[in-house]
Amino acid sequence: MKDATNMNTFPQQGTPWEQIQKELHELKKLDVDWLNHPLPGYLYYFGEEILENQLEAHNLYSLENGLGAGVTFFSLEKMLKDIYDWAQDLYHGPETMGMTFTSGGTESLFEAIRTARNRARARGMEGRLNLIIPYTAHPAIDKAAQIMEIDIIRVPVDAEYRADVPAMAAAINDKTFFILGSAVCYPYGIYDPIEELGALALEHDIWLHVDGCWGGFINPFAKQLGYAVPKWDLEVPGVMSMSTDLHKFAFSTKGASLMLQRYQENKDTYETFSINDWPCGTYETPSFQGSSGAGSIASAWAMIKFLGNEGYLKTAKAAMDATVQLTDGVNAIEGLRDVRDGAPVEGNSMAVMSIDPEVDIMAVADLLDAGGWHCSRMREPLSIKHSVTPHHLSGVEKFLKDIAAAVEKVRREGLKGEYDERTY
Ligand SMILES: Cc1ncc(COP(=O)(O)O)c(C=O)c1O
Repeated sequence: MKDATNMNTFPQQGTPWEQIQKELHELKKLDVDWLNHPLPGYLYYFGEEILENQLEAHNLYSLENGLGAGVTFFSLEKMLKDIYDWAQDLYHGPETMGMTFTSGGTESLFEAIRTARNRARARGMEGRLNLIIPYTAHPAIDKAAQIMEIDIIRVPVDAEYRADVPAMAAAINDKTFFILGSAVCYPYGIYDPIEELGALALEHDIWLHVDGCWGGFINPFAKQLGYAVPKWDLEVPGVMSMSTDLHKFAFSTKGASLMLQRYQENKDTYETFSINDWPCGTYETPSFQGSSGAGSIASAWAMIKFLGNEGYLKTAKAAMDATVQLTDGVNAIEGLRDVRDGAPVEGNSMAVMSIDPEVDIMAVADLLDAGGWHCSRMREPLSIKHSVTPHHLSGVEKFLKDIAAAVEKVRREGLKGEYDERTY
């Protein structure tokens, strides 16, 4: 029965903080125990020191607002300038480079497409436009295309799961304003041929975006570690913009990504919102967001300073070592095979398929989940997908032991599982 407040469930009195703390700790027990069973993606952890420092920086700025950077919060403006300089170093950014600090990879991709779309319109492209991406590109691009009513053409990838550049070229028509490659793609951890895509973009005068949301804070360090990292960033002629997530392998708290573009001028002209037609005068924001978390800006700034090149060599090494060990480990288990089928590891991602009709890989995933892991299921090919983080290094042995035991049991008992669309 509702009382005069017309509320059913809204707390009427405050609750003592000690009780809330207890409840929060209880609630956390509902989640996958990621400390002992490293999760595919979702969170990025590499020890308590990094966690404490990223949180301290975040908390110090939890009340401030990115909207006021350079207006009231001059410290945020200074941090963003430093992040700009560091990104310019890391990604071969030209002097003309523009940068937008966004809430995540999804917003960075949205901003790239919006900027390119506005530029295309200004250059006279009319009617329903389209963009062309490899089949492996992230669904955030579909979201942006849906919002902006742009047609999206996903082109099948080649046998190595790389963007098929001739097929993408064949799909281009007079309404195409944007193409994309990933470095690396989320499903398979593979580099699309960015140099070839750059040449294609220049030939057709089309915007090329490189999605480095996953790879942005792995690729430059994997290269220093000796991995064969192809040219993939603003160094490549024809790349007009790229995205790199700070809240993944840069170890910022969540809500941090960068959209970098070759020309600040395009940012000023086609990305920045400047709205004047309301009572308060000009309201200007660099991107879609209004108020935004300053904690993630401070956290990103602090973590790049704290870890530096030396620190990121360690975190990238852990992620790449874990990927190599997991890949080699599953290839050594009878009936299992990593999705790249023996090709060298490129990025920190792997996926386990069954090559034995007696071993249902979804039944293996179900057993692993029951044992405390969370297995992402991939549909093409049917596999258990691991987006590998540095923390996985601590769980390699246990995972390989558990998956070997699960395979044994599935084979012995003829267990069957089902692909579950929702287990991203
Ligand atoms: C390649 C790639 N692009 C975009 C995204 C989306 O990033 P976010 O979840 O930060 O919006 C991801 C997330 O994993 C990704 O791996």
